[in-house]
Amino acid sequence: MEFIKVNKTYAKHIALIQLNRPKELNALNLQLMGEIRDSLKELDQDDEVRVIIITGDERAFAAGADIKQMAGKSTIDMWKVDQFSTWDQINKTRKPIIAAVSGFALGGGCELAMTCDMIVASETAQFGQPEIKIGVMPGAGGTQRLTKALGKAKAMELVLTGKFISAEEALGYGLINKVVPVEVYLKEAVSLASEIASMSPIAVQMAKEAVKRSFEVPLEEGLHFERKNFYMLFSSEDQKEGMNAFVEKRKPDFKGR
Ligand code: HXC
Repeated sequence: MEFIKVNKTYAKHIALIQLNRPKELNALNLQLMGEIRDSLKELDQDDEVRVIIITGDERAFAAGADIKQMAGKSTIDMWKVDQFSTWDQINKTRKPIIAAVSGFALGGGCELAMTCDMIVASETAQFGQPEIKIGVMPGAGGTQRLTKALGKAKAMELVLTGKFISAEEALGYGLINKVVPVEVYLKEAVSLASEIASMSPIAVQMAKEAVKRSFEVPLEEGLHFERKNFYMLFSSEDQKEGMNAFVEKRKPDFKGR
């Protein structure tokens, strides 16, 4: 991997993907996105990994798609490259992904954070969709995911003016889960990840799938999907372990079976 660093054993059951183009503020070129896609696919298959954290560095989570790589492209060039199939694959990851964000999370960077399941941010984090300032618009889900999180008025303002919001504001809108001092944002993401990693990984993945489904389908269909996953969990050993542990007044030990 040239543009990311992957540590499969960053903490117990937790893998870390760190974007690694610091001089370019982790601008998301095509190779970097492909590396994220490939490593998520591998981590999704690795039973030792239960939660994945994606982070950048203190100055930037990611300042967007690589403008220099896109600047001279034609419509047909962009269509041939089909970069959004990479994003679609990332969105299919079963295991929970936490974005640990410090500094700039802009354009594709904001979209990548929003594609993750939760966001833990440092006080210095800034979120925005500034594509409008360079003559385009969000393309990797920004107009949809930001609007679902912030509501129409604020999302419209951010998308049409390109202005940024602070981590505190993002927290107020429910875009992110937590804001902590910059020194501890990664530690805080690990702590959240550890809490989730102590649960049954099968239940976690099926629950994630059901929550995500709520963004796609009408309520009745979502409820049907939820019930299907709920019933399925009764064929896992983890369900027996979890419920027996409760009855026996002990801590469950989930094996992911
Ligand atoms: C390529 C980038 C970049 C980007 C920063 N850099 N953002 N290179 N693509 N998105 C590079 C700069 O060119 C510069 O390289 C170095 O990183 C440091 O950036 P500076 O601008 O010098 O830093 P600063 O003055 O602190 O300003 C930070 C900034 C600004 C406000 C984040 O860099 C900026 O506005 N970046 C672009 C943000 C943006 O428009 N993002 C949306 C992209 S479109 P050199 O070599 O000059 O030192 C997009 C579409 C997504 O994301 C849909 C498809 C996936």
